[in-house]
Amino acid sequence: MRRKLAAGNWKMNGLKSQLAELEALAKAHPAPSVDVLLCPPVTLLAAAAQGPFCIGAQDCHPNDAGAHTGDISAQMLRDSGAEAVIVGHSERREDHGEHSDIVRAKARAAQAVGLTAIVCMGESLVQREAQNTLDIIGGQLAGSIPDNATAENLVVAYEPIWAIGTGLVPSLAQIGEVHDFIRARLERRFGAGVGRGVRVLYGGSVKPDNASEIFSVPNVDGALVGGASLKAADFSPIISALETS
Ligand code: 13P
Repeated sequence: MRRKLAAGNWKMNGLKSQLAELEALAKAHPAPSVDVLLCPPVTLLAAAAQGPFCIGAQDCHPNDAGAHTGDISAQMLRDSGAEAVIVGHSERREDHGEHSDIVRAKARAAQAVGLTAIVCMGESLVQREAQNTLDIIGGQLAGSIPDNATAENLVVAYEPIWAIGTGLVPSLAQIGEVHDFIRARLERRFGAGVGRGVRVLYGGSVKPDNASEIFSVPNVDGALVGGASLKAADFSPIISALETS
């Protein structure tokens, strides 16, 4: 049985005052029956880790330490209280030219210090319209995930680029097709035990009003939520929808 996961990615949003949203969320969900993970900007990581939820970061450097001005290592994230880190988000793949090789190295660095790597992948609209979605996802899966993946140290997030921050959401059949494909590829590569244990999240315009139907799709083990994770009033009903799914 995979434990469901509601993960929030705050992206480059949130000053100290934003931590009040975590307090409100904790009041609304004192004992959630699903895993709840918040990924604030790194400036809020240590403070957020004092609260009741699991905390993750949004990126890490593949090296342990050294002359990399402005970068943060996985070990530093762990030291600040993080338990997970997002790697390979499409915004990093686009803004920073990150390809699957570097994403895999980052995931490996995260796993090496005991962090769960949340490896993101997704197709562009052009790629979907050209019916290349499964090829793209297959390539990103093969290239971005280290060989030592386990059900504990890996989460996969399917985030179609065209659905992020747009209000557009794939049909349930389209989500199901990609999630079934990811599950099958994970089982083929890592065997049934690991392949069936890794959680696969959907991300891209998940909101309170569409969460339940998305969570009804087989092989959707939760969500990676952007905009709607910033306010407790929005994220709370998404957590509740996952709890009752
Ligand atoms: P939105 O939920 O704002 O579409 O963002 C999704 C996302 O990119 C989460 O990583």
